[in-house]
Amino acid sequence: MSQTIRRIAISTGGGDAPGLNAVIRAVVLSALQSGWECLGIRDGYNGLMNPGAFPDGGVMNLTRDSVRGITHLGGTILGTTNRGSPIAYPTLGDDGQWYERDRSDELAERLKELEVDALVAIGGDGSLAIANVLSEKGVRVVGVPKTIDNDLAETVVTFGFDTAVSFAAECVDRLHSTAEAHDRVMVVEVMGRYAGWIALYAGVAGTADAILIPEIPYDIETVAERVRQRAERGRDFAIIVAAEGAHPVDGERSVVGKSIGQQERLGGIGHRVADQLAELTGKETRAVVLGHLLRGGSPTTRDRLLALRFGSAAVRAIAQGCFGCMVALDPPTVHFVPLSSAIARMKTVPLDSDTMLTARELGISFGD
Ligand code: F6P
Repeated sequence: MSQTIRRIAISTGGGDAPGLNAVIRAVVLSALQSGWECLGIRDGYNGLMNPGAFPDGGVMNLTRDSVRGITHLGGTILGTTNRGSPIAYPTLGDDGQWYERDRSDELAERLKELEVDALVAIGGDGSLAIANVLSEKGVRVVGVPKTIDNDLAETVVTFGFDTAVSFAAECVDRLHSTAEAHDRVMVVEVMGRYAGWIALYAGVAGTADAILIPEIPYDIETVAERVRQRAERGRDFAIIVAAEGAHPVDGERSVVGKSIGQQERLGGIGHRVADQLAELTGKETRAVVLGHLLRGGSPTTRDRLLALRFGSAAVRAIAQGCFGCMVALDPPTVHFVPLSSAIARMKTVPLDSDTMLTARELGISFGD
């Protein structure tokens, strides 16, 4: 099968995650070993859809030199975007209204014009849904799962998650001393969209007193009671980790807004919980929003290694003629799963998982 491949393309889509450059390097070096050429598409698929917007025409040739010294770097040398999905592209109608238009046929055509034999699509659920549409249109695609949120099904973990959790746990550690010094309640808001993986892992590792996750709607009075109980035991400070997608039993998620062609933006739970706890407990509270700090910086060793393994495995998948698939970690191996099953559902925290049980046994409150 590999003799039919001469040129492959790589795209990085959605929010960036530490490890993207390591995947790019592994794909390029492994592909060059097979004698294939590599093209890098700029800013998700924008390089193909709006080539005029890029000085290099939206596509760059990726050589050994292009990927030298990038394994440890955050971000992506190709650029990325989480706006303007090709399958729901914001387009201004004649009536002056914005509509979402499917431009995937155009994309498949551009790949054909560029004589791309296979595409490595590195991304989260949105980018992999685009990859699946392209695959259904005959494009030979291999997906690589990326997201700090760890919410992709069919893989035990995505790269970027370990870096985000490690940083969040370090921040929680740092907040302990200042919280204790001032007898304050600190509420730490972390990303993760509709899944509580980052909050749970960072909260347990950082020994938080309460963790609020989207999978368990919380009662603010229960959280306040935990803060009071601590005070009765002589612990006048508390650390609460709140996932951006968490919500109260009788209330909505905190949403910043939604624009056409974009997913809704979450945010605000940290301040909301901090204000309510101040009122209910009478304690001084502060909210800290970690936000995009979780996506920046150098990938941890674990994420680098996973990203390199995923990149090489993607090239192996192409060589074996395995298309419409995603590389996935099923320890100890990386194997290939259908793209369609990877995007069929969101991977949320199982409430009976070992980490959840551990948290409960450590006395951490989930506000339920
Ligand atoms: O999916 C990754 C992620 O960082 C989410 O955790 C977060 O909700 C979202 O992206 C933020 O997106 P943006 O970069 O558009 O603010």
